[in-house]
This record gives sequence, C-alpha cells and structure tokens, in this order.
Amino acid sequence: MSNQYRGEHYHHREVSQADGANQLKDDLEIARQRRSIRHFSDQPVPRDMIEDIIRIAATAPSGANKQPWYFVAISSKSIKRQIREAAENEEKTFYETKITPEWRADLEHLGTDFVKEHITDAPWLIVVFRQDYELTETGERKKNYYMTESVGIAVGFLIQALHRAGLCTLTHTPAPMTFLREICKRPLNEKPFVILPVGYPAEDCEVPVITKKSLEEVSDFL
Ligand SMILES: Cc1cc2nc3c(=O)[nH]c(=O)nc-3n(C[C@H](O)[C@H](O)[C@H](O)COP(=O)(O)O)c2cc1C
Repeated sequence: MSNQYRGEHYHHREVSQADGANQLKDDLEIARQRRSIRHFSDQPVPRDMIEDIIRIAATAPSGANKQPWYFVAISSKSIKRQIREAAENEEKTFYETKITPEWRADLEHLGTDFVKEHITDAPWLIVVFRQDYELTETGERKKNYYMTESVGIAVGFLIQALHRAGLCTLTHTPAPMTFLREICKRPLNEKPFVILPVGYPAEDCEVPVITKKSLEEVSDFL
C-alpha cells in the first residue's frame, strides 16, 4: 500500500431495510414532482440556502477526488442582466443559423426560443464551471480526471437538493457559453458547464407536457 495512504473509520449511516424501502418510495414521489421551469417569480431566496445547496453539491464523488468544479452564485441584478444579454445573443444565432432541423424538431414540444427571461427573473443564478486541469498557486498545471462525469454528478446532487428544499431550477446550456468565464471572472482552466437559475415558480408558471421512460425502458436486471 502506498505510504501516502491514511485511513479512518467509516461511520455508516445505518437505516433498517424497511425504513430504507419506505424512504425510497417517498423519494420517488418527490423526484417525480421535479420539473425544469422557465418562469420564475421574484420571491427572494436567502443566501444561506444557496450556500447549503452548494455545500451539498460539493460532497459529490469525483475522479481521484479532484473535485473539478466551481460554483458562482449570482444575485447581482446588473450581472444577471449582462449574462442574459450575452446568452440571448448566442441563443438568437443558435436558433436562427446553427440549429439543425432535427434539433429544432426535438425542441418544438418544449416551446423554447431565444428569449431567456428566467436569467433575470430568478433571484439567483448558479453558474457551474468544470476545471479541465488544476492550476496550483505557483501556476503549475496538474491533471484532473473524469471532469465531465464528476461535475455532472455534482450538478445532479445540486438539482435534487434544490428540489427537496422546495426550490426550482432549469438546466440551461446556451451554446457556446464561454462568455460566462469572463463575466464571472474565472480562470482559463475552467469551462462553463451549466447555468442554473434558482428560485420559486411564477404564479402562472406552465411546464411542457412530457413523459418519462418506464423502468422497463431504461433498465435490464441481469
Ligand atoms: C444537459 C442539459 C441541458 C439542457 N439545456 C437546456 C437549455 O439550454 N434550455 C432549456 O430551456 N432547457 C434545457 N434543458 C432542460 C431540458 O429540456 C429538460 O430537462 C427536459 O425537457 C426534461 O424536463 P424536466 O427537467 O422537467 O424533467 C437541459 C437539460 C439538460 C439535462
């Protein structure tokens, strides 16, 4: 064993199988109520809640425990406005010139277009960055591993935590979104991964009618 290894006792959080099974039923019910929303109210969300949600995301597993993520939480109206302008510019070009016919057809049932009012309406934006390599304090580059998988898992934790706390979000990925690095003042080793507006739904908030695949469609048991 490497002489750099240090172990400590694993404190298992014990749950009886009966309680675990019940918990899963409750969690399934809650998970099924989650939807991506695109119409937010201006009801404020305390910063403490956003901090805890980021803390939860940052507990995620990651390749070699490199934790290749960075979260920028934005409540500043002027920064949100800047992000909205830049995102709408990119999205307008995307919808008008870059989108393929197949992609356009796949988006039609969602009713989306280049107008992104959720960016300025939601009280918070969490911009998630993926660190493609580590930059040490002395400017040395160090390798990261499985960055996309790691950040994807962290964002999954984050979305579930938001939902369990009664908050809503949208996974928003304007393409390209490099403008976020400059607006959020992040270094060159980081790539924007996703924008998550966070808040409560507007009173008249609608969501597209969609269905989810069944257990049989998404799994095999061998
Ligand atoms: C990686 C990823 C990127 C997405 N990008 C966008 C986006 O740019 N704009 C948008 O309106 N929705 C986006 N969505 C939201 C999806 O359209 C939405 O999750 C899907 O229709 C299922 O709806 P639900 O989240 O309510 O279950 C994205 C979702 C994921 C997971």
